[in-house]
Amino acid sequence: GITRHYELNITMLNVTRLCHTKSLVAVNGQFPGPRIVAGEGDRLLIKVNNHVSNNITIHWHGIRQLRSGWADGPAYITQCPIQTGQSYVYNYTIVGQRGTLFWHAHISWLRATAYGPLIILPKHHVPYPFAKPYEEVPIIFGEWFNADTEAIISQALRTGGGPNVSDAYTINGLPGPLYNCSAKDTFRLKVKAGKTYLLRLINAALNDELFFSIANHTLTVVEADANYVKPFETDTILIAPGQTTNVLLKTKPQFPAATFLMLATPYFTGAGTFDNSTVAGIVEYEQSTSLNSTTAISVKKLPLFRPTLPALNDTSFAANFSNKLRSLASPQYPANVPWNIDKQVFFTVGLGTSPCDQPQGCQGPNGTKFAASVNNISFVQPTTALLQSHFSGQSSGVYSPDFPFNPLHWLNYTGNPPNNTMVGNATKVLVVPFNTSVELIMQDTSILGAESHPLHLHGFNFFVVGQGFGNYDPNKDPKNFNLVDPIERNTVGVPSGGWVAIRFLADNPGMWFMHCHLEVHTSWGLKMAWLVLDGKLPNQKLLPPPADLPKC
Ligand code: C2O
Repeated sequence: GITRHYELNITMLNVTRLCHTKSLVAVNGQFPGPRIVAGEGDRLLIKVNNHVSNNITIHWHGIRQLRSGWADGPAYITQCPIQTGQSYVYNYTIVGQRGTLFWHAHISWLRATAYGPLIILPKHHVPYPFAKPYEEVPIIFGEWFNADTEAIISQALRTGGGPNVSDAYTINGLPGPLYNCSAKDTFRLKVKAGKTYLLRLINAALNDELFFSIANHTLTVVEADANYVKPFETDTILIAPGQTTNVLLKTKPQFPAATFLMLATPYFTGAGTFDNSTVAGIVEYEQSTSLNSTTAISVKKLPLFRPTLPALNDTSFAANFSNKLRSLASPQYPANVPWNIDKQVFFTVGLGTSPCDQPQGCQGPNGTKFAASVNNISFVQPTTALLQSHFSGQSSGVYSPDFPFNPLHWLNYTGNPPNNTMVGNATKVLVVPFNTSVELIMQDTSILGAESHPLHLHGFNFFVVGQGFGNYDPNKDPKNFNLVDPIERNTVGVPSGGWVAIRFLADNPGMWFMHCHLEVHTSWGLKMAWLVLDGKLPNQKLLPPPADLPKC
């Protein structure tokens, strides 16, 4: 591999969408941010210069960061934030990974506007396990808020209620023609007839899983979370925040006299308020003359085709779609599923409440404050970074190493909710020795209503060996686990009113954040950290921190 240098300048940028102009935190004057491209085996040196008044960190979502946790990025977990006027160089090597990932700010709600694609190309002369596409196109979904996103979350936390929903979804930063005052901000995918395009789909939205479809075209799924999968065809993709999916789009053999919409709409299984609007982009066949692509929206002139998407709460589509995702499990790309398990862990994930601590009252159920938890513990963010405290042996008063391996109270999670919905608050980490093979069952609770939660684990890929609706049954369900070709990924949806089983080898020493990638749930405490201890050999230890690591 080679060394690649990037520089990311964090500055304010005026951006207008839906006829609202706001000043937002952007990177290199671009919204969405720039594309970062590297090759498998390369070393990246990415200097981040903070020119805004907010503190910032950047996370390289899905990068394994083998022994280099200092470069992972979640604020107060692996590093103190980069303060105004300061810089930090993220320094890491990409080992054994290639595919579509993304980078995003990892502090408060700044990832709403500071994000971009992170594309890792295969090693030289190593082809894709599918025919070489004619062109590769990143398609990154986001959310646009007319108001200041930071203000929205801080107000929500102050009032103990939920934040406002966004005003639009976006494709590559553009809401598209189905929103008011937005037709000129439409993503156009210009294609040639009879070619194959690789679409690198990235869900960088804050709070919604999305369905995605292109009218009259079939998509072939070939990769998820930067892992190749057994190709399968589908009309519609389901993609959760934090997930990436590569699909092949085969264009029609001749230029069709029509315009095709690509649409993304939310998959929503919870209760409460949400944005059920639709972002649209356009697939435009390139044709020698007549179609002038600069005219506002050509859909007025040509027949317009619109895809049909599943219903908002189509949980069976979700279950079927995730069942179709299978590892390639080939000699070249084997699925190294941990076979013997050293440690069984069971997490309940879900929403709950906290006592109201606001003088003006809270907006949660029965006057409580909204909270979310893992094993009944709502994670309290420390004021100094966990990894630094661990490395310097000064963890006391920062975190306690006793995160429970099982829920504190076993109950019928998907049956009648218990009377007491209160969660505890603490900064606890779950400690495992180096090279522990872990099986983790995550069970959604319906204490405040069932909801799908996309759980993201930093520092690892894991295999999704099983999933189901209702309560996990330890006597029955493991018999059906797929240990042959389960999908390998970094973010998995815990099904609404159901459970998911994952396995991974804890071969990466460090402090690894795990959280729901719905930003509102992270804010409410649906997060925790794994501490993987050093191994005995020198190459099994966390590297020492870089000299420019920010201080709190
Ligand atoms: Cu993409 Cu901890 O996040």
